[in-house]
Amino acid sequence: MTENGSHGTPGQAGRDSRSSGSGRSPASRRTFLDRFLGTAFGGLVAAVTYPVIRYIFPPREAEAATSSVVAPVKASQLPPNSGRIIRFGTKPVILLRTPGGELRCFDGTCTHLACTVQYREDLAHIWCACHNGHYDLHGRNIAGPPPRPLPPFDVQARGDDIIVTRRT
Ligand code: FES
Repeated sequence: MTENGSHGTPGQAGRDSRSSGSGRSPASRRTFLDRFLGTAFGGLVAAVTYPVIRYIFPPREAEAATSSVVAPVKASQLPPNSGRIIRFGTKPVILLRTPGGELRCFDGTCTHLACTVQYREDLAHIWCACHNGHYDLHGRNIAGPPPRPLPPFDVQARGDDIIVTRRT
């Protein structure tokens, strides 16, 4: 007999009242806490890694959605034997007017190591300054290290506007 009237040791009485008061055993509380902390940690890891992964692998929808743009340069602003880099979605394209007066457009990213090409009026063709790559007025790689032609885009003049469209 103990001082509080129960049988057994004083320590046993204390443990009995703690375990029966909450209705949960210490083991189930520990399991609950383990699960809670595990879920919180998983949420924290997801919250940190998701933006990093989206930054490294950005979605491609914006690029795929762009199929046609109105060039920011007017047809009257592009004289024969000149060219301009414009944006097609997020990518550069080179819009040019040949010495004969025809409008053409090509991907502006060099097929060698992805520098942006430019139009050389003195050479009357497309040139890449990074490693002296040359492309003719049909986008064909004609000199230097570029391994492939520049992919072409369709070009239409509507009044003074120039419409550039991705080829399908
Ligand atoms: S990146 Fe254009 S020639 Fe090398």
